[in-house]
Amino acid sequence: MKALITAGGHGTRLRPITHTQNKHLIPIANKPILNYALEYVKEAGITEVGIITNKDGTEVQDVYGDGSKLGLSITYIPQEKPSGLADCVRIAEPFLGDEPFIFYLGDNIIVGGVKRFVEEFQKNRSNCHLVLAKVPDPERFGVPEIRNNQIVGIEEKPKKPKSDYAVTGIYLYDKTIFEAVNSIKPSARGEMEISDAHQYLIDKGLKISYSEITGWWKDTGKPSDLLEANRLVLDNISKNIAGDVDSNSVISGRVIIEKGAKIQNSNVRGPAIIGAGTQIINAYIGPYTAIEQNCIIKNSEVEFSIISQNCEILNQKIRIEASLLGKNVKIIEANSKPYTNRFILGDQSLIEIR
Ligand code: TTP
Repeated sequence: MKALITAGGHGTRLRPITHTQNKHLIPIANKPILNYALEYVKEAGITEVGIITNKDGTEVQDVYGDGSKLGLSITYIPQEKPSGLADCVRIAEPFLGDEPFIFYLGDNIIVGGVKRFVEEFQKNRSNCHLVLAKVPDPERFGVPEIRNNQIVGIEEKPKKPKSDYAVTGIYLYDKTIFEAVNSIKPSARGEMEISDAHQYLIDKGLKISYSEITGWWKDTGKPSDLLEANRLVLDNISKNIAGDVDSNSVISGRVIIEKGAKIQNSNVRGPAIIGAGTQIINAYIGPYTAIEQNCIIKNSEVEFSIISQNCEILNQKIRIEASLLGKNVKIIEANSKPYTNRFILGDQSLIEIR
C-alpha cells in the first residue's frame, strides 16, 4: 500500500500564521502537524508516501526532504491550485498507480494512528473505506446517510445532515477511485469535492465500508482547533526533564523539558512541553502549553497556548491564555514615555487586550 497525504490548501482560517507559513508545519506539542500523519502511516507499515503541496513554496520539502530521516520514501506532488480534495487524488494517479492507498488529510490528528483502519480496509476488501466520527456539528463536514449499517449516500456540508457522523480526513481506496475523481464536476463552490467522488462510487454500486473513531480526532482548520489538538496531544505525554531546572523552580505534573532548556525561579504546571534552548525566567507556565525552541518567557504567565520558536514574552502583567503565536513574535513591555500600547502587526492579526 501507498499513502497520499495533503499539505497544500489555502489555510485561510489560520491567517495570519499561514501568510508566512504552511499550516501543516505549525507545531502541535512541538512537532509540525504533518509529522503526525507521517508517523501514523509509517506505524501502519506504509513507507511510500506522496505529499500534495502548493505549486509555489518548498517549505514542506525543506523540512522532510526525501523522507529518509523518518524511514519513508517521499514523493512531492505539486497541485496547480487548491481546487479540492478529489483533485488531489486525481493528480496523484501517476504516483499511486494500481496500488490501494490511504488518503490522509495532513491537518488531521487522531489518537491511536491509522493502523487499525488500514487493517479493516484490507479485511473488508472494499473499494473504499471511510473513517467516521460522531460530531456535534456535522453540517461542517461530508455527512454519510447510513441504513442497515451501509452508507447509502454522502453529502458535503449539508444544511440538514442525515446523520450525526462526519467523514473524517482518513480514506482508503483501491484504483476505482480514479474513475470517480475523473468523472465528477466541480461543485457550486468551485471545488472538486471528495464527497462527490464517494457518491459516484455509491451510485456505481461499488463496495463502501466504514470504521468509527471511538477516541479523539481533530481536524485543525481554525486556531481553536489547534489549541484543542495541542491539549489532546499533551494529555498523552510522559514526564521527561532533560533541561536545567534550578532549585527555586517547581515542576508539577507531566512536563517535558527538552535538553538545553533552562527554567529559573519559575513554576511549570503540566501537561506542558518546553523546547530546547528556551528560557523560562520568573515565570508561570500553566497546563496545556507548548513552547518551541529558543523562546524567552520572563516575568510573565502563559497557559493553554502554542508558542512557536524564537518568541519573546517579557514583563506581561496579565496572563496570556488560549493564544497561538507564530515564529519570532515579541510581546514586550513598553518602557519609554508616553506609556501607550504600540503594535506592529501583519495583515489579519488578532489581538485581544484587557
Ligand atoms: P481544508 O482545511 O478543507 O482547506 P484549506 O487548507 O484550504 O483551509 P481553509 O478552509 O482554512 O482555507 O483542507 C483539508 C486538507 O487538504 C488540508 O491538509 C489542506 C489540503 N488541501 C490540499 O492540499 N489541496 C486542496 O485543493 C484543498 C482544498 C485542501
